[in-house]
This record gives sequence, structure tokens and C-alpha cells, in this order.
Amino acid sequence: MFDEILAEEYPKQITLENSAEVTIRLLSSGDTDALYQFFQSISRDDRMFLRDNVRDKSVIEGWCRNMDLEHVIPVLALVGDKIVAEISLHLERHGWKSHIGKLRLVVHKDFRRQGLAVEMVKEVIEIALHTGSLEQLNAECMVDTQQGAIRMLELLGFIQRAILPGQVKDIEGRTHDLTLLSYELRDQEFHAID
Ligand SMILES: CC(C)(COP(=O)(O)OP(=O)(O)OC[C@H]1O[C@@H](n2cnc3c(N)ncnc32)[C@H](O)[C@@H]1OP(=O)(O)O)[C@@H](O)C(=O)NCCC(=O)NCCS
Repeated sequence: MFDEILAEEYPKQITLENSAEVTIRLLSSGDTDALYQFFQSISRDDRMFLRDNVRDKSVIEGWCRNMDLEHVIPVLALVGDKIVAEISLHLERHGWKSHIGKLRLVVHKDFRRQGLAVEMVKEVIEIALHTGSLEQLNAECMVDTQQGAIRMLELLGFIQRAILPGQVKDIEGRTHDLTLLSYELRDQEFHAID
């Protein structure tokens, strides 16, 4: 049922602040090469917070081959055939965090500051509202180096809940404090996606 809603909703078109036309759709099995190219264009610093080694093509192949929308919902933004942003919503279907979805997002450097991240996060909020199980969305950002991301999420209504000192290490081995931001889905009206 949820799969059917997603299939009906996507693809959709949006227009960025610079008038670029962008297609938003779910990741599909044929996206391996385009997604691999996208991640190669992401800087070392920006790749650091991704959980997987996206420079390893077999990792990307695995994502595209073994899609499981019950646990990860990956949404792409494309200009023509080129992927310009990727956001994923991660769900735990069982256990004490099954009401919390986690999001991760990267926008291509050439497409930043055009409102794309805001649009992508709004998409994920809509999707999360339709899961029926999620009550909260979480995102984690480094306090010192991801102020732009924090600002973007706060604009959308995310609230910083906790700062976790020394929680992550960068590629050079320096530790950074992490801030946990969350968004209450229960406070939102239900907007029919279809
Ligand atoms: C953070 C990131 C997703 C923002 O993407 P984006 O498409 O440029 O964001 P938007 O254009 O939607 O930004 C909306 C607002 O957020 C704020 N913002 C976004 N990036 C900012 C930055 N680098 N510095 C300061 N403010 C920023 C601004 O208020 C911006 O509005 P404005 O451009 O009108 O001033 C992008 O820079 C990125 O991919 N960074 C690396 C990965 C990352 O940090 N991911 C977030 C972890 S969940």
C-alpha cells in the first residue's frame, strides 16, 4: 500500500530559485552509474558524515540492487539525467526507535543555495507522514562545520535537542560535537500525498 502511494506520487517536477527544472523521484535499480557519479562529485569533507564508503561502486550497486522501502526510502533530485541531490529516510521497523525516522541529505555543490535541500526535506516529511508509524524525524549535524545544514533544518521546524560532545571523528582524526535535531510529525496536519 505504502509502495503504491510512493509509486503514484513520483516522479514530480519542481522549479528551483534559479529557475532550474528538477525531477524528484525514488531511487531505482537503473541509477547505479548516475548515483556513483554524483557521489564522486561530493567533497571529502561532505562525504565524511555518510555512513557508507560511497567511493566504492559496489556499495552503490548494493543500494540500487537491494532496495527495501520498508527500511530505507531514497529520494533523488535530477536535472536531466544528472543526479544533483540525494536524501534518504531510514526507518527501524521494530524496537524502541520504530517511531523515529532518520534523514541524511547531500546536495551537489553546484546546486546549493537554491532551496533544493528545503524541498527535499519537505518531500521526506510528507513521506514520513504517510508511513503511519513515524512520529519524529531526526538528523545529526556537526556543530562546528555544518552550521548551514543546521540553519536549513531549523528553518523547516527542526529543533536542536541535544549536543553530544566529541561524538564523531573526521578523516584527519579530529573529534567534533554532534547536534541532534528533531522534527515532531505529530504536530503536523496530515496532507494527502495523492
Ligand atoms: C546542507 C545542505 C544540504 C544545504 O543544501 P542547499 O540545497 O544548499 O540548502 P537550501 O538552498 O535549501 O538552503 C535553505 C536555507 O538554509 C540555509 N543554508 C543552507 N546552506 C547554508 C550554508 N552553507 N551556510 C549558511 N546557511 C545555509 C540558508 O538560510 C538557506 O537559505 P538562503 O540560501 O535563502 O539563505 C548542503 O550544503 C549539503 O549537501 N551539505 C553537505 C551535506 C550536509 O551537511 N548534509 C546535511 C546533513 S542532514
